[in-house]
Amino acid sequence: MALKITVIGTGYLGATHAAAMAELGFEVLGLDVVPEKIEMLAAGRVPMYEPGLEELLRKHVAGFEGSSGRLRFTTSWEEVGAFGDVHFVCVNTPQKHGEYACDMSYVESAFASLAPHLARPALVVGKSTVPVGSAARLAAKLAELAPVGPDAELAWNPEFLREGFAVQDTLHPDRIVAGVASEGAEKLLREVYAGPIGEGSPFVVTDFPTAELVKTSANSFLATKISFINAMAEVCEAADGDVVKLAEAIGYDERIGKKFLRAGIGFGGGCLPKDIRAFMARAGELGADQALTFLREVDSINMRRRGHMVELAREAVGGTGGFLGKRVAVLGATFKPDSDDVRDSPALNVAGQIHLQGGQVTVYDPKGMENAQRLFPTLGYAPTAVDAVRGADVVLHLTEWREFRELDPAVLGEVASERLILDGRNALDPELWRGAGWTYRAMGRPKA
Ligand code: UDX
Repeated sequence: MALKITVIGTGYLGATHAAAMAELGFEVLGLDVVPEKIEMLAAGRVPMYEPGLEELLRKHVAGFEGSSGRLRFTTSWEEVGAFGDVHFVCVNTPQKHGEYACDMSYVESAFASLAPHLARPALVVGKSTVPVGSAARLAAKLAELAPVGPDAELAWNPEFLREGFAVQDTLHPDRIVAGVASEGAEKLLREVYAGPIGEGSPFVVTDFPTAELVKTSANSFLATKISFINAMAEVCEAADGDVVKLAEAIGYDERIGKKFLRAGIGFGGGCLPKDIRAFMARAGELGADQALTFLREVDSINMRRRGHMVELAREAVGGTGGFLGKRVAVLGATFKPDSDDVRDSPALNVAGQIHLQGGQVTVYDPKGMENAQRLFPTLGYAPTAVDAVRGADVVLHLTEWREFRELDPAVLGEVASERLILDGRNALDPELWRGAGWTYRAMGRPKA
């Protein structure tokens, strides 16, 4: 009989995983504790912007004409416990307020709510990013609280999806990592991933702690790569070098690789910043903090980028009086393009700092306006890029949306007060902007 799957937590990770499992042919039941989210998903709407996800959802969610009907949603733990053979836990683990450690309360409460409803053998699969050691503890808790006892097994199966590519990354992962404590758990996970998701993806079987560490170390490596190139940008600025050329040239070395070498205002979002901090906190608890002291530097290089962009902008608008009486257009609010996520967004951090220093900031973002307005209600907002730039003394390009690369600098030059643009993502074409009479400056590149 075909396995039945449940997905607990329907954020980026859970909503995408649930739709992907239905795409593979499984019957899927998604659960969230927020009824509004469940209502939206059941009506075929995704509560965030994620390319392709709504289409995939509608292809499977019960009630849509022509849908497979394999995907349903609920808020009932009882229903989930009775339905599933395999339960994926996809709740988030945000940074604790004022601390480096992550907040495990959603994970803890998911396990505490699910376990009492596991009355027949089931595999619970953790996908959330957790401090190493959590899986072993949660496995014991599961066996203790579940009516089936040790027949409620745990596996740890970290997820590596990127926002903006969530569907693609879930359906075609680089690798599948399975942290298991028994052959039975491995067999069941292999069965789940036997279809097209697993095809061509290496399946790495390991223990709980290694599986947990794969995720945090992968994100730490990515963060380190970005901060490395941003450190090179600082040196390039001091030495009049060009970090974009430098990145291209070192990237031809296959051991280094081209990806994640884009210098700019640094990384943000709901994962990289909080994951490296939680990793440091956990290493400290384990007495291994020395191994990760470099991550402190990775974090501080990253945070320095935001301040540096503010400095460049202040310099650009004339210095001494700071930003007082100056209009600053900010293109981009999300932490990366193709997402509406503004969590720990470098763009909004820069915009907020300039606002606090007296600048008159106007932000435009293709998809992140609503979330940005909620988080930073005191900033100015404009309905289009052209409107944001109207009357601006300086334009800051802070999130590299395609829409911004396709802007016509001549048109913007007509409405701007000064033709002055700072590219915080090294993503615009300097020649194009300079050709239209703009002073173009980027981070880690010569002034020209
Ligand atoms: C990241 C990991 O990539 C993913 O594997 C993990 O599952 C979750 O965390 P995500 O947060 O969606 O994914 O974003 P990512 O594409 O990694 O970008 C993170 C940040 O780094 C963004 O703010 C982006 O603008 C910045 N970045 C990325 C750079 O500044 N330079 C680069 O070269 C690449």
